[in-house]
Order: sequence, then structure tokens, then C-alpha cells
Amino acid sequence: EHHMAPKITVIGTGYLGATHAAAMAELGFEVLGLDVVPEKIELLSSGRVPMYEPGLEDLLRRHVAGIDGATGRLRFTTSYEEVADFGDVHFVCVNTPQKHGEYACDMSYVDSAVESLAPLLRRPALVVGKSTVPVGSAARLAARLLELAPAGEAAELAWNPEFLREGFAVQDTLHPDRIVVGVTSKQAEKQLREVYASPIGEGSPFVVTDFPTAELVKTSANSFLATKISFINAMAEVCEAADGDVVKLAEAIGHDERIGKKFLRAGIGFGGGCLPKDIRAFMARAGELGADQALTFLREVDSINMRRRGHMVELAREAVGGSFLGKRVAVLGAAFKPDSDDVRDSPALNVAGQIHLQGAQVTVYDPKGMENARALFPTLGYAPSALDAARGAHAVLHLTEWREFRDLDPQEVGAVVDERRILDGRNALDPQVWREADWTYRAL
Ligand code: UGA
Repeated sequence: EHHMAPKITVIGTGYLGATHAAAMAELGFEVLGLDVVPEKIELLSSGRVPMYEPGLEDLLRRHVAGIDGATGRLRFTTSYEEVADFGDVHFVCVNTPQKHGEYACDMSYVDSAVESLAPLLRRPALVVGKSTVPVGSAARLAARLLELAPAGEAAELAWNPEFLREGFAVQDTLHPDRIVVGVTSKQAEKQLREVYASPIGEGSPFVVTDFPTAELVKTSANSFLATKISFINAMAEVCEAADGDVVKLAEAIGHDERIGKKFLRAGIGFGGGCLPKDIRAFMARAGELGADQALTFLREVDSINMRRRGHMVELAREAVGGSFLGKRVAVLGAAFKPDSDDVRDSPALNVAGQIHLQGAQVTVYDPKGMENARALFPTLGYAPSALDAARGAHAVLHLTEWREFRDLDPQEVGAVVDERRILDGRNALDPQVWREADWTYRAL
């Protein structure tokens, strides 16, 4: 019997989908990516990516059909018909943002992806959810699929959460820490083992479980990471009150392997499109399930995190003499973390926005996030370089820890500012280097 490798489609081409599609092509599969936004499809088809993600554009260019020297294994479309005809395995990678004014996440993109695809599935197909969803969604979507698909039971659902980090998306997708699949049949498990044969062969653990567990693995992993960050930020509050050093403390407790060194960087806290909304959606869902008590600690994790932003603003106000009126503040960093142009729920921009509202003249610079920042906060000032942002500043705020900022020459920056005063919101600069250059250095 001749066995053909499964053909793969990826629905939704944001951070997750674009990376997943390119990675699947890299692993040797024929891949068709779909997005409902034609401009995105046009861009991707010409080998370009609508966001900054290291290595992704190169990976894409190695495979997109029509590009010189590419394998041609990767194509893009806006047509669900084409996707349904083409694929054996369909990955759903659309986003699930926080609902406006609510804790719960918005499932409408996932629902509409399944509802658009399912009625077109006439032959055996495995629909694999990758989006981060409230527990219980997979079971609901499986029922919906059965109801809508002409193929009946031959169109099956599986859940396969994704753990990639922005900035490391390519590496995390090709070499995942673990692969988790929620399945209801041996056949689905077998198919997913085939899709992930390469990382499994390299030693990535392959965890097979049921729908609710697979969904919960994702939300609990992000909740744990958020909790680690808020824990160290709570310790930073105590350190500040007691004149301790939270950076040393984190290093010292991290030597205990049970605690570990990672994700214990104190600062202005976590942001982005995932951790903040995921812990909130998790609380909302637990409430619906009558298990809200189990997650009340996440409310504290969230409020410690938000308090960091406010505290940064206070420190800055204090630093410029108690009032922002008539003061110029330079903000280094707009992205929610370095190596990303993503400004969704960015702590840096939130702080910049608060300071602007309190009357300061704020000038922001970020190596990659400028365009997105300007779109979200059009009233802030923007400068084309760190040095330009710093010109005439009464205080410089370091809020996203790009390498570029660690490499700044304090003398050079010192020559353009009004006052040599720097506040490090990420505990990432070398205090000694700045102090030696006559700066007043203060960190969170
Ligand atoms: C996070 C998770 O790390 C991924 O595993 C997960 O797949 C992803 O969400 C998702 O759900 O899609 P990401 O949002 O890319 O990934 O960013 P992280 O690297 O986790 O950083 C999140 C925030 O925490 C950033 O604002 C960062 O500056 C902050 N952070 C991180 C700290 O303040 N301190 C730390 O020690 C670590």
C-alpha cells in the first residue's frame, strides 16, 4: 500500500498560523494557508510577513510557491473551498482576543473558522484546534463539526495547543518543548504523530490526552508563567521597602533547581496578546464552571502586574521633581517585549501613555514597534532613534529591554539629555556603567 504524507492547511495567518504554516512546509509537507484578509494573503504569497518575527521571513521564502529557489510547498489562499479540497489535516490558528470590557475571550473567529470549513468537508479530514480557548470549547466544536460536515464522522476534531513565544516562534515551532494533543480516537493520534514525526524523533515529548486536559494545559501553563512574574514583582515591592535587591534575590533563589532562574525578571510586568488575556479568560471560565475559588489567586497576579505600571509612573514623577508638567520624558521601548513589534497590552506604552496624560512631553523610540505604537497611541511623540528620543529629556525611561538599549553609550546619551537621570523598568541595564558616566540610575 502506498502511503501519502498528509496535506496540511493552516487557517489564520497571524503569529501562530504564519509560523506554523512555514514550519510545516520546512518539515516537508505540502501546505495551504488561509486568511480572510486578502492583503495578508498577498503579502505572504510574495514571501513577506506582516509582523516582525526573527527568522520567519527567511523560512517563508524557502517554501512559498513562485519565489525563486523556493520548494513551492507553501501556498496561500482566501478560499475555504480550496482549503477543504486540499487538506487532510486542517490547523485552526485564529486568535481569541479578550472581549471588550469583559474578562472572557472572544471565540467568534474560532467558531467562524469551523463553521466556514465544516460544511465543505466531503472527505476524511482532521480539524486541529491550536488557538487558546476556554476549556469545553473543543467538545462544543466537535459536536458542531459532526453536525455540519457532509463527511460525517470521517471529519474529526483534535486539540493541539501551541506554546510558542513571540520572538522565538520559528525555533519553538520546529523544536517544541513538548507536543500536547487532545484526541478522541486512535486514528487522530496516529495522524498527529505523523505530522509531528520530526520533532518527536528529536526527542520532543508527545503528550496524548483528552480535550479538556489539552485545553487546560495551555491556560495553566500561561497562568503559571504569569504567576512567576508577579511573584518576583511582589518580592520587588518588598525589596524596595526593605532596601533589598530583587535582581540578586532572583538569582539566588533561582539556584534552587526546583525554582529555576527563568521568568523571574522583575520589572514593569507582563503584557502582550497572551498572558494578560489568558489569565482573565481562565478566571471567567472557571467562574462559569463553578470553580472560581480555585483561581482567585490569579486576580492577585493580575493586580500585582498592573500595579507595576503605576509604580513606574510614580517613580518617574518623583524623579522629575514631583510633577510632569513642562517635563520631557524619553521612553525607550514600545513593544511588550524585545525582539517583537507587538504592542498589544504593552506595559511600556501603557506607562508612556499615563505619563503623557499627566502632562509630560513624551517621546518614544522602539527598534521595531514604532509603526504599531503610533497606530495605537497616536498622541505620543516618536523619534527615529534612542538618541533622538533622549534629546532634551529630564528623565529617560528604559521600558523594553532591547539589546540596542544595553549597548547605548551613557556618555553619548548624556550629551543630549537635559538631565542625566535614567529609570530602568526592566532591571536590564548595568547600573555601574551608567553611574560611572554621572547618571542617576534607578531601577524598579
Ligand atoms: C507567552 C508564553 O511564554 C508562550 O509559551 C505562549 O505560547 C504564548 O504566551 C501564547 O500564549 O501564545 P509571549 O506572549 O510571546 O509568550 O511572551 P513571553 O516571553 O511569555 O513574555 C510575556 C511578558 O512577560 C512580556 O511582557 C515580558 O516582558 C514579561 N516577562 C517575562 C517579565 O516581565 N519577566 C520575565 O521574567 C519574563
